[in-house]
Amino acid sequence: MTSATSLFSPVEADLRLLSENLIQLVGTRHPILSAAAEYLFGAGGKRVRPAIVLLMSRATMLDEDITPRHRRLAEITEMIHTASLVHDDVVDEAQMRRGVPTVHSLFDNRVAILAGDFLFGQAAWYLANLDNLEVVKLLSKVIMDLPTGEIQQGVTRFDTSITLEAYLEKSYYKTASLIANSSKAAGLLSDVSRETSEHLYNYGRHWGLAFQIVDDILDFTGSADTLGKPASSDLKSGNLTAPALFALEEKPYLEVLIERKFAQEGDLEQAIALIQDSQGIKRSRELAAHHAQLAVEHLADLPPSESRQALMNMTDYVLSRLY
Ligand code: FPP
Ligand code: MG
Repeated sequence: MTSATSLFSPVEADLRLLSENLIQLVGTRHPILSAAAEYLFGAGGKRVRPAIVLLMSRATMLDEDITPRHRRLAEITEMIHTASLVHDDVVDEAQMRRGVPTVHSLFDNRVAILAGDFLFGQAAWYLANLDNLEVVKLLSKVIMDLPTGEIQQGVTRFDTSITLEAYLEKSYYKTASLIANSSKAAGLLSDVSRETSEHLYNYGRHWGLAFQIVDDILDFTGSADTLGKPASSDLKSGNLTAPALFALEEKPYLEVLIERKFAQEGDLEQAIALIQDSQGIKRSRELAAHHAQLAVEHLADLPPSESRQALMNMTDYVLSRLY
């Protein structure tokens, strides 16, 4: 498997600085949060999102160094992402993430909600201080999109009539919006043209969709060990993702099992077996590959550079998580 970190070589030093800054920024203001911050921004996270923002920044600032604003944008992106995960783990009642206990299980719900709120608030404050209204609009839309996606997912649990389009829309809100809008924002901070900024947005959108589809496949194919959290948790909680939606087209009995919310013994295992026996995982892989390919096409507008190449390789990395 291509490791994420080897792809980040053009921004390795930037990412080290980012990690140090994040712990400092969150930890120093509120002692109650310092333990959570240390834990959240310490080892464990792959830093994929800030890496993309920094690579976008470098790929659009070829003759000059990136600015403190580019760096701050990457930090804001990671803060928003981390805050949403802390809240998501409360919503999902998840005990483990990245192989370690989640914030609410390590501390309690009160600390987890406050830590998430503080991170969102702090991200908004730093965002406003970038003094770029368009960038503020892009990232505040993300803060609105995240709960929109989470709510859409929540209200369609166990609903076998949801379409692939609705699944992709929800995935955009939940996952791709952050990467799309922060990629575009990085370009705006580099003063790229309108047209280029749209390409950067679309790279992030398709990359994010591919990433989410792969994540949803791994929920079926990975083990608790490799995932760092229990496997098949999406299906169990009624979150119908690409593999299940494709499988529903071939396996009518799957609908019965899902509609009765796996109420009878062995229902969940049977549903997983039906999905494994269908074309669902294969078709989901093809869908992820399609979005990865579309992401690459949106980089054609950028001048060749080491950072642009790393962004291209990032799309292979997304797919390589499957193997
Ligand atoms: C992970 O999904 C969760 C997200 C990508 C976003 C969650 C967003 C919220 C909880 C809303 C944020 C709230 C505010 C106030 C902006 P997952 O559960 O499918 O993935 P996982 O397996 O990594 O948990
Ligand atoms: Mg979750």
